[in-house]
Amino acid sequence: MASKYINITLKIWRQKDAKSKGQIETYKLDNVSTSSSFLEMLDQLNEQLVGERKEPVAFDHDCREGICGMCSLYINGRAHGPDTKITTCQLHMRSFKDGDTIYVEPWRSKAFPVIKDLIVDRTAFDRIQQAGGFVSVNTSGRTMDANAIPVAKFDADRSFEAAACIGCGACVASCKNGSAMLFVGAKVSQYALLPQGKVEATQRVLNMVRQMDEEGFGNCTNTGACEVECPKGISLENIARMNREYLVASIK
Ligand code: SF4
Ligand code: FES
Repeated sequence: MASKYINITLKIWRQKDAKSKGQIETYKLDNVSTSSSFLEMLDQLNEQLVGERKEPVAFDHDCREGICGMCSLYINGRAHGPDTKITTCQLHMRSFKDGDTIYVEPWRSKAFPVIKDLIVDRTAFDRIQQAGGFVSVNTSGRTMDANAIPVAKFDADRSFEAAACIGCGACVASCKNGSAMLFVGAKVSQYALLPQGKVEATQRVLNMVRQMDEEGFGNCTNTGACEVECPKGISLENIARMNREYLVASIK
């Protein structure tokens, strides 16, 4: 598709640091190629701001191809913008029209405090992952080859789907309760479905849920916004599986 150029108005959340009060600021940006990605459009804005000797907008990104989970932006009131099953870095300006006004905000959640402008602190996810999102492997030299352990196709597929979670936090940002259950459910499921993950399953789910609660995330009330906004299509069934795992672990 041939690219064309559009003129847009951006309303962007600016916040000097974690302690300052933020506000929405307005910028006009002309000649934005519809072939550029949303992040390239923000790069273009920052070049304009630097040229005007103004502070560029701080935003997170890394891979720019939908796998690292860094580009966490609320765009026009939706996590990762108007399209479904993509991250902000996969969103293109062809999704917008000439003359559009686009609101860009950081994730809004108590457990993800704003660091600067559009960047939030998502290290709460790292701490949950560190609490149990791993498999301990005996490296004595007599470790069984993982490929030698049979796994039922159904379980392998469900585990693979859960492992697609990139830890972006859209589930938390889109949840009215600020719940991290979809993220934690995906991480717990990824291992609980595999023989390698069953060894530490009891401690894993107890530790990850405890850490999730300590980080200040809210509770799940089954509204399902997380599943709708998740760029990787992580299913609510992962929350149900985590709840079952947690119940069994608690009784044990
Ligand atoms: S469950 Fe989906 S929305 Fe939540 S962190 Fe994982 S990929 Fe992002
Ligand atoms: S920058 Fe890595 S997922 Fe968007």
